[in-house]
Amino acid sequence: MAEADPGAFPQNPNYIGLNTPQRAEYAVEDLAVTGTIPADVSGTFFRAVPDPAFPPFVDDAGAILSADGMISAVRFENGKVSTAIRYVGTARHLAEVAAGRGLFGKYRNPFTDRPEAAGVGRTVANTTPVWHAGRLLMTKEDGRPYRVDPATLETLGQVDFGGALRSDTFTAHVRIDPASGEMFAFGYEAAGLASTTVAFIVIDAQGNLAREQWFEAPYCAMMHDFAITENYVLFPIYPTTADLARLQAGGDHWVHHQDLDSWLGVMRRDGDVSDIRWFRGPKGVSCYHMMNAFEDADGLIHFDQCLSDSNAFPFIREASGIDIAQPDLNGRLARWTVDPAGQADTVHETVIGPPGDFPVIPASVQGRRQSHGWMLTMNPERRGPPVPGGPVGAMFDVLLRLDFTGAPPQALVLPMGSCFNEPVHVPSSEPGHEGWLVTMVDHQRGPDAFVHECWIIAAGNPGAGPVATVTMPHRLRPQVHGWWASAASLAAAV
Ligand SMILES: [Fe+2]
Repeated sequence: MAEADPGAFPQNPNYIGLNTPQRAEYAVEDLAVTGTIPADVSGTFFRAVPDPAFPPFVDDAGAILSADGMISAVRFENGKVSTAIRYVGTARHLAEVAAGRGLFGKYRNPFTDRPEAAGVGRTVANTTPVWHAGRLLMTKEDGRPYRVDPATLETLGQVDFGGALRSDTFTAHVRIDPASGEMFAFGYEAAGLASTTVAFIVIDAQGNLAREQWFEAPYCAMMHDFAITENYVLFPIYPTTADLARLQAGGDHWVHHQDLDSWLGVMRRDGDVSDIRWFRGPKGVSCYHMMNAFEDADGLIHFDQCLSDSNAFPFIREASGIDIAQPDLNGRLARWTVDPAGQADTVHETVIGPPGDFPVIPASVQGRRQSHGWMLTMNPERRGPPVPGGPVGAMFDVLLRLDFTGAPPQALVLPMGSCFNEPVHVPSSEPGHEGWLVTMVDHQRGPDAFVHECWIIAAGNPGAGPVATVTMPHRLRPQVHGWWASAASLAAAV
């Protein structure tokens, strides 16, 4: 690929420290392992790692979100571990490599692009690797996914499900029903930039588009994630909004509104989008990730989310003229409860956990009541700043196991200078065993010195620390999301 002068990257938080562009593709076998890798951990930990291939040519506070997608694999096979990382060959990345420079301007604003970018898809496919129906997809909510070969990490092309997909966009947060194997998805701004149109999409267990139906959201909002239950699909809307005129004027894609209502759209999975019932939520709140949703025996729907009183991204609050500091966001794991058969048209909120993000549950309980789950949070007793990095500008240093049956939470607290990326859950074949969490841990060793380890942690006892650690061979940028694919499912797909 064409090489740019690394010194050409601006020296601002999007490009320094842990966020320093690495721009390196490699494959390394036989990594150093300390401890014993459990037999259950046999498969591949896929990771989405954004890394800008070229320096920006515009001033863009949101640039951290539009770095080129890289697909990373950490493979576990018979106790041996290898890793590889490659750029996703998006149309955008290939066009920039051909030009030898950046062509795309501000985060999700095509009106700031160089002329050569006209007509080229803008998505960077940098958010979540999704493994479903024997296909590995790299996703980002502003475009359609790219399919990647799980063995070689070669990009195989953009996915439209055999020409069946109408939506311009496809979420990075799909939900896979553990019983049916169906993949539930959606796309917002489905009918074009800043449109209020949302596509509801179902991909069957064989990977075919089984259903796509469009509806109009209350306003054009950032819809980053959603949830399913056994019988319902839930569409949350928080007041971070896009506006075409603002984009045409070269402005920011997103502005958050503290005075606008949030909404939870509820429809039966076997119903029609015209039946969506909208429940009103609190004004001004924001959430990026849901832990889960489920129905109880009384037919009530519970929707568990990492909620805060404003948008968690500082650059969006700044663009919105909102002066709330990160520690004052009132983050919480919030449960919104609604009765689809009742008269009330508002959500009822209870707080069920601390501030934090990157919630994880076993895939086997998706849409069913979870007895426990895991998430990342900040150590309130840390006597110094967190490691700077990622889009929020601060990395998490505590892994929590939350128990929803009454047992106290358990924590794995990292020392100062170390931080977690989002873990994936690996189930165990042993009955009653909660399985394992696999996660990348970054350690800062100096002002611009970092080392990285992949940790395997007993999911039922995270406080005991890792049972095995794998030393990564090169510097890594922060991961966004990851996905676990078992060796058996990978073998079956060949
Ligand atoms: Fe996400």
